[in-house]
Amino acid sequence: MDKFYITTPIYYPSGKFHIGTAYTTVLADTIKRYKKLRGYDTYLLTGTDEHGQKIQTIAQNNGINPQQYVDQMADLAKELWEKMDIKYDDFIRTTEERHTKIVQDIFEKFIKKGDIYKGTYEGMYCVPCETYFTKTQLIDGKCPDCGREVKLMKEEAYFFNMKKYADKLMEAYENIDFITPEFRKTEMINNFIKPGLEDLCVSRTSFDWGIPVKSDPKHVVYVWLDALTNYLTALGYMSEDDTLFKKYWPADIQIVGKDIARFHLIYWPIFLMALDLPLPKKILVHNWIMMKDGKMSKSKGNVVYPELLINRYGLDATRYFLLREIPVVQDGIFSPEGFVERFNYDLCNDLGNLLNRTISMVNKYFDGIVPSYNGHKNDVDEELENTTQKQLEKIEEHIEKFEFANALSEIWNLIARTNKYIDETTPWVLDKNSETEKLQACMYHLIENLRKIGIVLLPFMTQTAQNLLKQIGIQEEQLKTWESLKGYNNIPTNTKVISKGEPLFMRLNVEEEVAYIKEGMKH
Ligand code: ME8
Ligand code: MG
Repeated sequence: MDKFYITTPIYYPSGKFHIGTAYTTVLADTIKRYKKLRGYDTYLLTGTDEHGQKIQTIAQNNGINPQQYVDQMADLAKELWEKMDIKYDDFIRTTEERHTKIVQDIFEKFIKKGDIYKGTYEGMYCVPCETYFTKTQLIDGKCPDCGREVKLMKEEAYFFNMKKYADKLMEAYENIDFITPEFRKTEMINNFIKPGLEDLCVSRTSFDWGIPVKSDPKHVVYVWLDALTNYLTALGYMSEDDTLFKKYWPADIQIVGKDIARFHLIYWPIFLMALDLPLPKKILVHNWIMMKDGKMSKSKGNVVYPELLINRYGLDATRYFLLREIPVVQDGIFSPEGFVERFNYDLCNDLGNLLNRTISMVNKYFDGIVPSYNGHKNDVDEELENTTQKQLEKIEEHIEKFEFANALSEIWNLIARTNKYIDETTPWVLDKNSETEKLQACMYHLIENLRKIGIVLLPFMTQTAQNLLKQIGIQEEQLKTWESLKGYNNIPTNTKVISKGEPLFMRLNVEEEVAYIKEGMKH
């Protein structure tokens, strides 16, 4: 069985996790579920990035020590992923010994190799971003990433010799295609590599909430060197038991948001080169969920937490919206209106009605028993079979390229096509005219199309897809596999649909729900 190792960034536990964080994680979970359906031995890693000055300050402000603070926050993250049905295989915390010990060893290894050396650092430091900037990088004297004040700081520090690896990194960029989308690579080359890669300061003495450098413990390891190695330490790299590491490294896909592209596309490959390790096969850089008035921020009062949506509209509606509305490589917009509209149109009308109409007809005309396949003698049936097969190919192509918004859009085209088939065949007329064979073929095709729709929805809308399949009487696992999308003669004889369909989604009152979400965003 081929393996497939997927990672999410490890999240800063600096506050409640909002739908941005949830988005990254849902992407990863969707990929995992898809790969699993395709027969891969999958491994999904997530976790929390718990060190650094910012965390230390927040803990202080809360009147607890940093360890207590991050313990609480890691629990919150796990609760949220449980609620969002995220099937992670491991959750790494950078305060765990399995991580800290190896980070220390890696740091010493780099010192010995001459990749890390001691020097003095002076620069403009952004506390919230935990990043030093050169004066030229500042925008109007402020942090180029978050726009906040920076302060001049000077300290004795260790540096990583990035310059030594600059050529090798360019070579990797040119020869291996590991960055999606391609334009992110160009950005890195133009913004960071061409102007000359600076050595990176990889230790701090200005605070102590971090991993001490073993041979010089008044220094703590820079939070990004600490954090990036999680992808290795979680697998037992350099530990007594590195079975998982041997099995799963290199990662098959690492998912990161655009704000942390620089760390993952420049520093991370260089650290791996310094360790003589293969690079990840793919780093997928995704864009952001924006609000109509720009970025989400507490000060604007426009932050959306996943619980607000999940508790009222369900997990699948939330996952659907995120995956449908945010094209992975372009920003997408969250708006309460957009959310309610997608819910009513896509989920209730298109998907919900197709299932309900079909189930009630199979009950009415055939006592709930799905008729057997009798070929595609009718033109309409043949045409449906052909277009469905083509649609499924398109859907698969998009998923393979991680273009989930497009994949969902094509799934909805298939749903629309299947709804149209009901209008074309007019089963109620076939019934009135006692055209039994045609009516049987019609019901069979509707159920088989619903089964196919259920399968392709499995990675995206986990509970809805299962519920749909259950309602049309599909229980056996082998009828829920990707493999079983092929052909039409798949439904066993005597398959029985549920006697009374249960609506997948209840229509929302637009005004009320828009107001509800808007109110919820204020808190
Ligand atoms: O950066 N839309 O953690 P983090 C989409 N600890 N994605 C968003 C978003 C939005 N509005 N806002 C944030 C860190 N994200 C580091 C990672 S990995 C070795 C260390 C995404 O909690 C963001 O792009 O600040 C990033 O991928 C993720 O949330 C975590 O951000
Ligand atoms: Mg961030």
